[in-house]
Amino acid sequence: MTDAQWWKHGTVYQIYPRSFKDSNGDGIGDLQGIIDKLDTLNDGTENSLGIDAIWISPFYPSPMADFGYDVADYCDIDPMFGDLETFDRLVTEAHQRGIKIIIDWVPNHTSDQHPWFLESRSSRDNPKRDWYIWRDPKPDGSRPNNWGSIFGGPAWEWDEATGQYFYHMFVKQQPDLNWANPDVYAAMLDVLHFWFKRGVDGFRMDVVYLIAKTPGLPDNPLDPNADPSLPEDDIFSRQIHLYDGARPEVHDIIKDFRRISDSYDDRALIGEIWEDDIEKWVEYYGENGDELQLPFNFRFIQLQKWAADGAKAIVDMMEGAVPANAWPNYVLGNHDRTRPATRVGGQGQARVAGMMLLTLRGTPTLYQGDELGMLEAKIPPDKIQDPWGINLGPERTRDGCRTPIQWDASDHAGFSTVEPWLPVQDDYTWRNYADMSADSSSILALYKQLIWLRKKTPALNIGSYTPIQAPDGVFAYLREQDGQRVLVALNFTAESKPLSLPGIGRIVLSTQLDRQGAVSGIIDLRGDEGVIVALD
Ligand code: GLC
Repeated sequence: MTDAQWWKHGTVYQIYPRSFKDSNGDGIGDLQGIIDKLDTLNDGTENSLGIDAIWISPFYPSPMADFGYDVADYCDIDPMFGDLETFDRLVTEAHQRGIKIIIDWVPNHTSDQHPWFLESRSSRDNPKRDWYIWRDPKPDGSRPNNWGSIFGGPAWEWDEATGQYFYHMFVKQQPDLNWANPDVYAAMLDVLHFWFKRGVDGFRMDVVYLIAKTPGLPDNPLDPNADPSLPEDDIFSRQIHLYDGARPEVHDIIKDFRRISDSYDDRALIGEIWEDDIEKWVEYYGENGDELQLPFNFRFIQLQKWAADGAKAIVDMMEGAVPANAWPNYVLGNHDRTRPATRVGGQGQARVAGMMLLTLRGTPTLYQGDELGMLEAKIPPDKIQDPWGINLGPERTRDGCRTPIQWDASDHAGFSTVEPWLPVQDDYTWRNYADMSADSSSILALYKQLIWLRKKTPALNIGSYTPIQAPDGVFAYLREQDGQRVLVALNFTAESKPLSLPGIGRIVLSTQLDRQGAVSGIIDLRGDEGVIVALD
């Protein structure tokens, strides 16, 4: 394993900086807060979580219409998060601990306060007019086409001063860039160089599959199966995204990103790819492995019903589809989706989910707080911050997975000295890093063991995957590398299940500590738990 493959054998940890750790008492997390917690993430010992890379959601100057995904300057830091000097220290301090830094890059759109857009908007003949997607109204004065914004309402915003509409896939404060314009292309590539030269190890590319637009911008067909109870304003969910979705041209653009990334040592590209068609999803690796090292695989997040057969079907599909020159990956949670502990129906299964994430053949991405088993928070309607929840109703809000990390049982969970931007969850008095670190039966203790076990067990880290016969409700597989054989058996049910082992085993880790001990032949799995059995 060379260092160039860190993205393959490491565990990636997502930091949502607003909610990670506030170092300056403004109720919002910041870069210094991340530096202060690096030892907790990996101090080289098994007391720490042991992650190998952090992906940090946006920290750029931003009016925060979409909490940083509306970028007003790609090459600076918002003062609420720190400054470039603090960022440089973060890179140095992380690297000293062997932690790679992946930053979020938002190529599809800028903030409407980005100087590029301010210029573009200033007049029809401004040289940057064509940096964004401006269109005349139809002859009857209506919008250029029927596209909707993911965040509600039409995707076109009227600009009174210049008498045209501009296009925004997300909120209207996030105008889409025109990647067909070579100046936009060049300016955005410069941004990649800027950060690579500052020492970042990779990028997570926000909705990168959407950046190439369909020429002519034709109307989308309406979806005859759309849910009739959708809010009136949810135009987006009532259409089939034939023309405002992924375009084949995007692959050539991603290849350019990869060429840049490969011109530096040991860097990696991760892309946010929502693509249900597996054949199309796989294309983001590039036919010659020349696109993304890791197109995010969200299929566990999308799994409708938490069940062994569903999870196995996803893994088997990945194993069958990911080309030999590429490497799978799995994501359990992120800042956009319901917390896994809530999704999978409680703490017992949250442990099973964690064990699955950390024992599969493929890079695991862990979202901050999932190692504590944090639940999706219920945010009072008057405290909702997310534009999705504000525009389309409280049930759409993503705030529930963005509440502050619970560090200890002190006021504001040790996250901040003042009231944080989103409320701290009530369970912080015991569900917190300090208390759970001291409890060897906590889900945090399990996550630490899993991450370190994966690191020091080649079979788990890079070994082959072979599913094995298991009773209903159990997902079991062998991981093998250089003669080392590890069996993982995950019980997705609340009942005990017998499992025939292809050999004699010793439990090295189980989701319940009292299950440790020698096992021969058959493992009797009780409760909603999974076990790893190392076969001698
Ligand atoms: C991605 C981000 C999400 C953001 C959106 C627009 O999906 O993960 O948080 O709102 O892109 O940038």
